[in-house]
Amino acid sequence: MSNYVPEPFRIKVIEKISKTTPEEREELLKKAGYNLFAIPSEKVYIDLLTDSGTGAMSDNQWAGIQTGDEAYAYCRNWFHFEETIRNLTGLKFVIPTHQGRVAENLLFSAVVSKGKVVLSNSHFDTTRANVLANQGIPLDLVIDEGKIPDFIHPFKGNIDLQKLEKTIRHYGKENIPLVILTITNNSGGGQPVSMQNIRETKALLKSYDIPLFLDACRFAENAYFIKIREAGYQQKTIDEIVHEMFSYADGVTMSAKKDGLVNIGGFLALNDEALADRIKEHLILIEGFLTYGGLAGRDLEAIARGLKEVLDEDYLEYRVGQVKFLGDMLEASGVPFIKPTGGHAVYIDARQFLPHIPQSQFPGQSLVANLYRRAGIRATEIGSYMFAHEDSSTGEMVYPDLDLVRLAIPRRVYTESHLRYVAESIIKLYHDRDSLKGMKIVAKGESSLRHFVARLVFIE
Ligand code: F0G
Repeated sequence: MSNYVPEPFRIKVIEKISKTTPEEREELLKKAGYNLFAIPSEKVYIDLLTDSGTGAMSDNQWAGIQTGDEAYAYCRNWFHFEETIRNLTGLKFVIPTHQGRVAENLLFSAVVSKGKVVLSNSHFDTTRANVLANQGIPLDLVIDEGKIPDFIHPFKGNIDLQKLEKTIRHYGKENIPLVILTITNNSGGGQPVSMQNIRETKALLKSYDIPLFLDACRFAENAYFIKIREAGYQQKTIDEIVHEMFSYADGVTMSAKKDGLVNIGGFLALNDEALADRIKEHLILIEGFLTYGGLAGRDLEAIARGLKEVLDEDYLEYRVGQVKFLGDMLEASGVPFIKPTGGHAVYIDARQFLPHIPQSQFPGQSLVANLYRRAGIRATEIGSYMFAHEDSSTGEMVYPDLDLVRLAIPRRVYTESHLRYVAESIIKLYHDRDSLKGMKIVAKGESSLRHFVARLVFIE
């Protein structure tokens, strides 16, 4: 078992969390149709639904909030925000948005049209949806090792360069407006991408004149993995590593709700002036003026400060250490999950955990519902419940490769004892796994977003 890296901060403000009884939770689950998105947060003891926008800000960020300049145009916090992102990424044009998916919307609506192909290690859901919404084709080219849950590899988020070149030749470079690397690779288990992979991707794309973008939500966690796992980077500072990573990028989309250490915000940054100008017009239409993009001046300030704070190596050691600590506790009891642990979450392999529940009965959702029922912990299913769909031509069900349950850890929120409670609860559930039942959907909404709204029951 690994040692816990102590929190590199002390706690100045606290928020009460409530315990509920198993009977209360059973009632709440029934009312929610066993859909965890419909459970009131005040009835959740430990909330691992997402690491997005759920972190705690520092005293320095809260102090920055007080300096918010709420003028409509060119407030002082905008200058700080712009300068911080320019210094961080080396990119010239900065476009503020209220969260990451708007940066994606602005980018893809400007460069993608019918039949255009966007290549990635793995598109995150909203990224994929924004490519599709513009009638483009999103393709995932993560290395094969990245798809095997317990295969140990230091950079399971890497893109397969041979497949990348083959795909570019197949579709023709004129049909590929950009390639986007997600760092770390959320859909693939929060796995990092190596510096070598980013560098070689850029070199390959340069020869075809295709721009490289980074979906950089978790760029600092990725940089920390490069520091501890990639030869030649142990002596470099996080700052130096981050600068090198971004030096290969022609543009960046970012949800600041992750490594921006804030509760809301995002941006798009790029070097192509003509493209930036087109996007800015659209920005005014859907988000707001060029210097606030759907955010208050105080939010811009908190992001600028968060983007500097996140480069602290002590913080990153603790952050990545927390995820590993949770993973190591589960490992010691044989609970199956994606290995090695990534930057922001532990991803349990629900099909291995519950081999008696077929994909058609949503093993991951059964695990999620039972975890809340027994322990008041909220996690997310990323598997058949979220993705299984009917093939429109054959009418047959198509199931995803993996049924995962994500335990995403909010930044600077929970302590070692909270994680111990989580591990103990999951291990208890694992010992009792044979008694868990499959589920069926009894009411669903739009199929692509059904996991937010559907209602389920256990199959008795
Ligand atoms: N890209 C990645 C890799 C993400 O993980 C997310 C959000 C986004 C883009 C979109 O950013 O939410 O600010 O619009 N991920 C959250 C999650 C929702 O739970 O993983 P957003």
